Parts: sequence; C-alpha cells; structure tokens
Amino acid sequence: MGNNLVEIKNLKTYFYTEDGIVKAVDDVSFNIKKGEIIGVVGESGCGKSVTAMSIMRLVSSPPGKIVGGEIIFEDKKILELKDDEMRAIRGNDIAVIFQEPMTSLNPIFTIGYQIEEVILLHQKLNKIQAKEKAIEMLKLVGVPRAEEIVECYPHELSGGMRQRAMIAMAVSCNPKLLIADEPTTALDVTIQAQILDIMKDLKKKLNTSIMLITHDLGVIAEMAEYVVVMYAGKVIEEAPVIELFKNPMHPYTEGLMKSKPSLNEDVDRLYSIPGQVPNPINMPEECYFCARCSKTMDICRKQQPPIKEITPGHKVACFLYEEGK
Ligand SMILES: Nc1ncnc2c1ncn2[C@@H]1O[C@H](COP(=O)(O)OP(=O)(O)O)[C@@H](O)[C@H]1O
Ligand SMILES: [Mg+2]
Repeated sequence: MGNNLVEIKNLKTYFYTEDGIVKAVDDVSFNIKKGEIIGVVGESGCGKSVTAMSIMRLVSSPPGKIVGGEIIFEDKKILELKDDEMRAIRGNDIAVIFQEPMTSLNPIFTIGYQIEEVILLHQKLNKIQAKEKAIEMLKLVGVPRAEEIVECYPHELSGGMRQRAMIAMAVSCNPKLLIADEPTTALDVTIQAQILDIMKDLKKKLNTSIMLITHDLGVIAEMAEYVVVMYAGKVIEEAPVIELFKNPMHPYTEGLMKSKPSLNEDVDRLYSIPGQVPNPINMPEECYFCARCSKTMDICRKQQPPIKEITPGHKVACFLYEEGK
C-alpha cells in the first residue's frame, strides 16, 4: 500500500434495470493517498457517486451490484468484509458528507445530540465530555456561538450552518477518509468558499484523506492535489492537479476546462461541451466520448481506448496519444 490509504482496482458496479444493465462504474482504478485531497470530476451521471457508494458498500441492491474488482482500505479488502466489519469501518474510518445535509441530519433531534451520538459510539467518553467534544467539533468547523448551536434543531439553522454541522458530525469520529460528494453544490458562492476552506483546514489539522466529488473544475483547482476525471463510468484521465491544468490531454478534460466560467467572462457565452453523457447501458464498443469529440478518428469508433500512462504520473484513455499517432 505504501502511501496509499485506498486502492481501487478494476471496480465494476452495475445496475440491473428493466431497460438493461447500466454499467455505472466500469473497470475503474485509482488510489487515494494518505492525507491527500483527491478530486473526482465529471459531468452529472458519470459514475462519481456510485464509485463513492461502492467504497462505502452502500450501493442499493437490487438493482445495484458490485460485480468485479477490488477495494483495499489500509490492509482490508472492503468487498470481502462481513457486514458488521463493514459497519465498524463506516462512520469510524470512513465518513461521508452529501450535498444535502438533511439526508444526514435527523430533523427531530438537536444538532448537539446528533454529534454526541456519533462521539459516544466511537469514543470512550461520558455524556458531559461528549457534549464538550461536540462543541469543540462545531468550533473546529467555524460555527460561531457553538454552545448555543448545539441546542438547535436542524431546521433552525441556515444551509451553510447545517452543512458545517454535518461536517462536524462526519469528522467527530476522526475518520481516515472523508468522502465529500458535491458538498457545496447547493450553497451560494461565499458560503461555498467558507466550507471548502474548512475542509482544507481539517485536512491540515487531522491529516484526513478527502475524496472530493464535484462537477466543478473551479472547486478542483482550489482544493485538489490529484485529480481523477470520469466519463460514462470510466476514468478517462488522471494526474496531479497542476499537471492536469497545465496539460489537459483528453478532449473531454479540455472541454470541461473551456466550460469553466472565469470572472471576466460573459456567462451567456460560456462554452459547453456539445451533446450529453451517454446513459451507460448497451454501449457500443467505441470510445464513449467519440460522439461529442472534435478529434474523433476511425479507430475511436471501433474500440475503447485503454487508460495508459503517457507522461510520468499522467494517465489518459485516448487514441490521440497512442504510439505512432
Ligand atoms: N439506483 C439506480 N438504478 C439505476 N441506475 C442508476 C442508479 N443509481 C445510479 N444509476 C446510474 O448510474 C450512473 C452513474 O450515476 P452517478 O454515480 O450518480 O453519477 P454522478 O454522481 O457522476 O452524477 C448514471 O447513469 C445513473 O443513471
Ligand atoms: Mg453524484
């Protein structure tokens, strides 16, 4: 494992639907290093959330099923663990925060009660100590007047405050991996920036690895050290963040970069990649991006490009970079 906390190898997660098999995650491999923020980026429907849910082993089954591959967390093979062993890892070693805090927060209990529950489950503290720790966690994520906020119910807080409470809850068990699935998408830009700062700060203070899922390359540029780009259930490019922005190789990644709004640009004229992410169902043997790509060659319509390391540390799945081209 070396520096890796998580190794995902050839993961396949499929959904068996009436219309056919949706290959939501199809032969995905990447690693998450200890203490690293890894960004997973791609348009909606690319398989980002299903990848995260697979790591947590929370894919709803049926219709979903992990049909192949391996996920190694520290020295444990996640896919081979018993249910109770998996439960011990979930919420203890791996915590998750979602776009919508209300999916994690229970409306009928106070914020403090809910954070204390997590703390009591995972740490040997009494109730008074757990409450102190809950306040401490809220302060850590920048909640002002934390002593008062612990007594509040979720509906009494603003969206940004709820998001902070959810992060406090997620990190109060001191996870080794925090999965953040579009954690700021529903928030306005100012609050978004604050939440991102809090996550960066947590990484620094607690050395947590963070898997940050987003469709927003701006968030990636701001936060991630390493980036995995997904398209139609596959990883199509991965590289350290600076390298990826300096030298995007896949036409899809280039397209995503062109569609990133910059401050002095007219939003109306914003470029967007023509076409849509295909539904990964009954897909032909071709590059899944070829219908939307401006650089399509004959070979792209005949077979799938395998992912290869093109320059040291920079992998891409595109025939443009095959030898002899
Ligand atoms: N419960 C489900 N049943 C059938 N298909 C699903 C289910 N959940 C997700 N999918 C499909 O899996 C693909 C990947 O979804 P998802 O991982 O949620 O995308 P992302 O998070 O990148 O927006 C999509 O095509 C989606 O329609
Ligand atoms: Mg998603």
